[in-house]
Amino acid sequence: MEADPPTVAVIGLGASLGDRAATLEAAVRLLAVWPGIVVERCSRVYGSAPAGGVAGAAFLNAAVRVRTALSPEALAEGLRTIEARLGRRPTRRWADRVLDLDLLWMAGVTRRTAALQVPHARLRERAFALIPLVEVAPAARDPRSGARYADLPLARAALPAVGALPQPACPPPSRVVERRSGAATMKMFLDTANLDEIREGATWGIFDGVTTNPSLIAKEGRDFVDTIYQIANLIDGPVSAETVATDAPTMIKEGRLLAKVHPNVVVKVPLTIEGIKCCKALADDGIRVNVTLCFQAAQALYAAKAGATYISPFVGRLDDVSEDGMDLIAKIVQIYANYPDLQTQVLAASIRHPMHIVASALAGAHVCTAPFKVYKQLYSHPLTDKGNAAFLKDWESVPDRDIIGQVERFLAKRG
Ligand code: E4P
Repeated sequence: MEADPPTVAVIGLGASLGDRAATLEAAVRLLAVWPGIVVERCSRVYGSAPAGGVAGAAFLNAAVRVRTALSPEALAEGLRTIEARLGRRPTRRWADRVLDLDLLWMAGVTRRTAALQVPHARLRERAFALIPLVEVAPAARDPRSGARYADLPLARAALPAVGALPQPACPPPSRVVERRSGAATMKMFLDTANLDEIREGATWGIFDGVTTNPSLIAKEGRDFVDTIYQIANLIDGPVSAETVATDAPTMIKEGRLLAKVHPNVVVKVPLTIEGIKCCKALADDGIRVNVTLCFQAAQALYAAKAGATYISPFVGRLDDVSEDGMDLIAKIVQIYANYPDLQTQVLAASIRHPMHIVASALAGAHVCTAPFKVYKQLYSHPLTDKGNAAFLKDWESVPDRDIIGQVERFLAKRG
């Protein structure tokens, strides 16, 4: 029943009977609590004449953008249930109705069955569906032609807005796990160039990559390229290696060479304009880039437009100057979520303590990178140690404490 990864969809709302505005608002409230759906944005409410020559009353129309893990079929079924709950009874096609909910569009999805058509069959012909859709999902494209709905002439037709639906409270990105590039949860990178730490971390089996920077490399006093190569052989995941040139042409040269050291290498560039130029050139070559030293949301837009695989906002260094580093993570996650075509992942960097990691996950960061010391702090809790000690003490009173022997005998007996 679930779409993987969770994706963006737009639902069209229409009502022509009863208290139409109240019904639309009630529908949004039900959508907001529907399992598997997060309401992200609501359009204004538009008045439209009845279509198809059947209904007599004027319609109110609107659209709601949602993020959902449901399949199109499951989502459409949910919409039918919400319609019924709010009093819709079966009527002729295009007749007056208390509420009409249509799955207008779902990112990258096409369906053409008797039961369901996605994108909606008449989306491109109906200003009252198209205009609110473009309002809530300006980047939405027709999955077959790739054309942006916002570019259709009908999207600019004159249609009076007669009201607005209440916007959802700031949508919680953490309610639906964002799975860019197939990540099922927040990835965890080690932020170190120390081979011993990385070797030990690798035995935990949970680290997904490593980030380094010139300061971390300098601290180890080893050859840069050899260190990157060794790290890439220890952890099977992205390893960030940073350029140090300050002009784009030399950075590009460094980046292209670093990418040849090991397939795991991700080229790291600072968020300067030269870094952005370099990011674009490397991304166009198919080289993954981590754009680092991000301290404001607008910079993250540049990185995404330049095709960065990762943007690294520095949480701890912002906290150090009395700004809220985690607020920056939440903002960038939200901005990227507004534009589903962007594939840049938010990599929370400059992490100083376990709560930074928890807060990054709550904000919906795709990756966090932290020193090994912080990951060690993350698992330890005095109550875990105390509880475990008590379990082991009580276990001492059990007569036969040899679990392995017991299980082997049990299995042998059972055959
Ligand atoms: C990672 O990519 C960064 O280089 C690192 O997290 C910076 O952390 P710091 O602010 O603790 O130096």
